[in-house]
Amino acid sequence: MKSEHYSYRQSDLYIEEVPVRRIAKITGTPFYAYTRAGIEGAFLSYERALAGLPHLICYSLKANSSLSIARLLSRLGGGVDIVSGGELRRALLAGFPPENIIFSGVGKTRDELEMAIQKEIRLINVESEEELKALNEVARSIRRPAAFSLRVNPDVRAGGHPHISTGTPKNKFGVYHKNIFPLYEWAKKQKYLRPVAIQSHIGSQITRVAPYRRALSVLLNLIDRLHGIGIKIEIIDLGGGLGVDYNGDSPDTPQHLADVILPSLQGRGLTLFLEPGRSMVAQSGLLITKVLYRKKAGTKEFVIVDAAMNDLARPALYDAYHEIIPVKNKGGVKIKVDIVGPVCESGDYLGKDRLMVLPHQGDLIAVMTAGAYGFSMSSQYNSRPRVPEILVNKKEWDLIRERETFEDLVKGERIPESIQ
Ligand code: LLP
Repeated sequence: MKSEHYSYRQSDLYIEEVPVRRIAKITGTPFYAYTRAGIEGAFLSYERALAGLPHLICYSLKANSSLSIARLLSRLGGGVDIVSGGELRRALLAGFPPENIIFSGVGKTRDELEMAIQKEIRLINVESEEELKALNEVARSIRRPAAFSLRVNPDVRAGGHPHISTGTPKNKFGVYHKNIFPLYEWAKKQKYLRPVAIQSHIGSQITRVAPYRRALSVLLNLIDRLHGIGIKIEIIDLGGGLGVDYNGDSPDTPQHLADVILPSLQGRGLTLFLEPGRSMVAQSGLLITKVLYRKKAGTKEFVIVDAAMNDLARPALYDAYHEIIPVKNKGGVKIKVDIVGPVCESGDYLGKDRLMVLPHQGDLIAVMTAGAYGFSMSSQYNSRPRVPEILVNKKEWDLIRERETFEDLVKGERIPESIQ
């Protein structure tokens, strides 16, 4: 099992001290369940690794934007990386102080920029010349300072699937590293802009830390050159991206990352920011689903479950692998099965060609490593209400988000009078 917080006891799957079937009995299926100890442990492993340097771990809220999970991390003194006005409001509601909030994203609106400046968040990560101009105009119009970093595209290749690789000139992200100087120089002359930081985020599901070293060396070189033209950078933000173990990936850890980056940061008077998302929560979440039907089509054995691509989009979107295990470990002959959902698309699967004991109707199965980009990317496609979320804490568990109802599905819809 990939996390010490999951175990089989008398062949029953437990999250911490709670049997999964007990939760299922009360909430029904499907649902997401998270281990609090797992999430806090992930945050603390970053904290420990970076203890030797002034730093702020800014959890990338998009990975899992549950208020309760955000609250756990804010209580531990963490920061948060947001990408929209909605996430800004969520972060504040979860209790993050504005000085621990940073704002990323390639297309922030003027309203979002204004809200961020008004709330006096720590940093806005600017991604283009036009955005920098917009930030200046907004800051000037409300006469408030805006601390910002430029997101630099360091031209470093990293990460898994092409959809989540971001650090090369082919991507829409950031300002190409050679082009940043006129922007910082211009910003320095503006009354309300504060060029205090520099940032890069090179990709996601990065399992080896070498690319970070390359990005760091590009950024440090830029910091030195900026210093030469009178711009003093205080914060270096290396983004998120550290990978997790989906399928025997054995990813490098926060400690490995610290080992390669801290030596060149010591003694430079910089504060290090990181923006981890996946590595903070992926391993700490499961999607629990129930077997509806089995059927054989040709040589294929299908197991049809009540969770679908709208609940966990990653397999359909990225061909992502999530380990799938039974909640009751019965033993027996293993065969190859496809685990599929009820949505009317062939791309609606959770796992293909999985070797497992054929489950029975009504059996529960657990989709692992689903805490990141699971619920947060879920939708109501096929008019399927979004599923509840549960947070387990030792022997206790709490419902941290209710299952949606039909009323939630049609909320806000209007049938015009002319067709009534
Ligand atoms: N910072 C920025 C600017 C980002 O764009 C992202 C993720 C992160 C931090 C956090 O990266 P992480 O530590 O989670 O790798 N939906 C995809 C992943 C998309 C990542 C988008 N950006 C998936 O399910 O694999």
